[in-house]
Amino acid sequence: MMQASLLGKAFSRGFTSRAVDGFTGAIGNTPLIYLKKWSEKTGCNIVAKAEFQNPGGSVKDRAALGVIRDAEERGLLKPGGTVVEGTAGNTGIGLAHVCRARGYDCVIFMPNTQSQEKIDLLRMLGAQVYPVPAVAYDNPANYNHQARDFAKNLPNAVWTDQFDNVANAKAHYLTTGPEIWEQTDGKVDAFICATGTGGTLAGAGKYLKEKSDGKTQIWLADPPGSVLHSYIQSGGKLVERTGSSITEGIGQGRITNNLATLVNDIDGSLNIPDEKSISVLYDLLDTEGLYLGASSSLNVVAAIELAQKLGPGKTIATILCDGAYRYQSRLFSKKWLQSKGLQDAIPDHLKHYAVLD
Ligand SMILES: Cc1ncc(COP(=O)(O)O)c(C=O)c1O
Repeated sequence: MMQASLLGKAFSRGFTSRAVDGFTGAIGNTPLIYLKKWSEKTGCNIVAKAEFQNPGGSVKDRAALGVIRDAEERGLLKPGGTVVEGTAGNTGIGLAHVCRARGYDCVIFMPNTQSQEKIDLLRMLGAQVYPVPAVAYDNPANYNHQARDFAKNLPNAVWTDQFDNVANAKAHYLTTGPEIWEQTDGKVDAFICATGTGGTLAGAGKYLKEKSDGKTQIWLADPPGSVLHSYIQSGGKLVERTGSSITEGIGQGRITNNLATLVNDIDGSLNIPDEKSISVLYDLLDTEGLYLGASSSLNVVAAIELAQKLGPGKTIATILCDGAYRYQSRLFSKKWLQSKGLQDAIPDHLKHYAVLD
């Protein structure tokens, strides 16, 4: 049974009493959702931030606003300026929205392997999109370096550098962390999530560690193809990336500046295979009515496994990063699931949700 105080808090969340200030005012303050089935199965309170409720549809709205505010405060971006970023996903969408709301131009560099839908969406949001050859990070033609160089050569332009600009983690330190603390009445035993830039884990994690005097454990969840789990397990050795995952937006081959702000204080890590992520993705749809992207379901698997490790009575928080809408042609396609060898990972009684051929 969930602690009465937590449940009361969850149900008492109502409307804010005043209008918020435009798109950016609507970012953050997302509900914390109590996941009933998995909480009851583990004897813990498993709670997850509904980041898909941000106005741009993902957790990355917070980072987008954070890096733009930082550039404004440092005088790098003046009215009518241009925001430039290398991104293939949610950060670009968040930046494009925030740029429209604040009167900036938005330029996005992305690998040319990305879907036409993503390019079209960014263009519909007013961004200028440059698909460039998909080459490794150490190649100067990599999309991130092209974004940096483009901004350098344009007056009143800033490269927001989501991976290494710690204004990203700071946005989560100032918002996501305090929200989780408040929404659990300061009773949060552990926080766990996967990382892309590391902004969410490092920022929210650092706040929760400090506020709890070190009592809240911070754990990193990692998909296949990422080096962070082995980095933490080995006490700091970086290995070559091997393998891959169906999850998008997470997994990393290096310690970004954002992750570096917390990496030495991380209590542990869990590696989550795609089979478990896809199975729980379908389960959360069936049991909770939640329609989620695969990084969100990976986070929930990780929270369940951490609950099993820590034992009953604990409160474990995680992140529901975005909805399935951006991935549905894959995640709910029988053919695609088969091509990834994942059709058997979905329990028989849930297979009917894969309605696309
Ligand atoms: C769907 C999704 N999940 C998780 C993340 C990871 O968040 P962070 O970059 O804060 O580590 C991202 C980042 O782009 C994402 O797009």
